[in-house]
Parts: sequence; structure tokens; C-alpha cells
Amino acid sequence: MSVEKQSELYSGKAKTVYKTDDPARLILHFRDDTSAFDGQKIEQFSRKGEINNKFNAFIMEKLAAAGIPTHFERLLSAQESLVKHLEMFPVECVVRNISTGSLCRRLGVQEGLDLEPPVFEFFLKNDALHDPMINEYHICTFGWASMEQVERMKEYTFKINDILKSLFLGAGLLLVDYKLEFGDYQGQVVLGDEFTLDGCRLWDVETREKLDKDRFRQGLGGVVEAYEEVARRLGTPL
Ligand code: CDP
Repeated sequence: MSVEKQSELYSGKAKTVYKTDDPARLILHFRDDTSAFDGQKIEQFSRKGEINNKFNAFIMEKLAAAGIPTHFERLLSAQESLVKHLEMFPVECVVRNISTGSLCRRLGVQEGLDLEPPVFEFFLKNDALHDPMINEYHICTFGWASMEQVERMKEYTFKINDILKSLFLGAGLLLVDYKLEFGDYQGQVVLGDEFTLDGCRLWDVETREKLDKDRFRQGLGGVVEAYEEVARRLGTPL
């Protein structure tokens, strides 16, 4: 079934979203841009858009096969995918299995601790406010989502943790932390946005080498090479 790309709906830091002739479907275009520190550091990496598009498709299909409702429908081209048009909740769901990043900065805890149980955090999607941390009461009180939707987001986020931790461990990778976004599709909570190496941290299980966007944040180099290495280990078709 063919789908016609129409006007741009929204352009984010690494993806542009287009309307289609079907109001219930959108096209995601994964660009080569990478940004960090609230968009203060931006760089283009050739092939990154294509790698992220294909990696996201691979992960979304694994999650769907394990019973998680996702917006992903199919790959359209090297850098584009067709997705369901969700009404996004303006919140980010973060799960942490190992301490690092903002958790350590905020709470002064040591880096690299195994977190058991894993830590769950909500953040408000608001660049001007630098995505402040919030809890379920803020979400319900301000109408960003209902308590039932909050519970569903937590349930799916933890289920995804079990699925992906074991998928990555099988490829010699530790899933350190990750961020997910959900939306409403015809009354159901559905996983939206993306799961790529831009939004998670993956470390080599033996050496703890960083194989994710921290290579860009920290100026370590080899960003695209690391993304390709992860895809290769998982058998993601690129
Ligand atoms: O990146 P930073 O250390 O500031 O934030 P974090 O809270 O430690 O990030 C936790 C996880 O969520 C990391 O895997 C980030 O890549 C991801 N994240 C994201 O993808 N987008 C955000 N706006 C915030 C976090």
C-alpha cells in the first residue's frame, strides 16, 4: 500500500516528522544530525540517519513480537519509516540499570553501580525548562496523562527493560539506561518516538567501552563506527 508524503509536521533535533495522505499515519525521517546539551552541540555524521532508522525498525519489531504495542509500521526508505500517528504524552520515561549521567550529577552517587531494582524516572519534555524531572502526580494534576496511562507507561517501560537487557546481553552489551516516549492511539497507550543509540547507553560487557551517543557527548570519536558495531553484533540488517 503506497503512502504519500505531505507537509512537515515537526522537526526535532535528529528527526523530521511528515504528515501523509492518511491522517492516522506519519513518516519519520531520521536525519544525519546529532545533538547534545540542549542542542548546544550539533554535528552531522554521514550514514547515521540510515543506521538509526534501521536500528529503530529492528528494535521496534522485536518489541512488537514480544507483545509491546508500538507505532512502527514499516521501513519506507533508507532514512524513512511509516508510523501510526499518536497523540504524544509530553513526558520521557527513563529506566536505569547502572548509575551514570544525570543520576550521578544530581544525587552524588558513584558511577557504574548496578541498580537493583532499576530506577524509573519521568521527565517533562520541555527544552526551555531543560526537561525537569517530574513524578506521576505532576503528570496527572497538569493533565499530561491519566493515572491509568502513567501505570501503563511504567508497565511497558519495565517490560521493555527485560526484553532489551537480555537481547543486548546476548550480543555482549550492557543496557545501562534508556529513554522512551509513549502516546495515545485510539485509546491505547502505544510506544512512540524511537529506540536508537541516541537515546540509550550501551557498554561492552567486558571492557565497559561506551558504544552509544556518549561517544559524541564526550568527544570520544568513532560515533558511527560504534553504532555500526552494535548493529553488527545484534545482526541488524543495515
Ligand atoms: O544525558 P544525560 O546524562 O544528561 O541524561 P540522563 O538523564 O542520564 O539520561 C538517561 C538516558 O536517557 C540516557 O540513555 C540518555 O541518552 C537518555 N535521554 C534521552 O535520550 N533524551 C533525553 N532528553 C534525556 C535522556
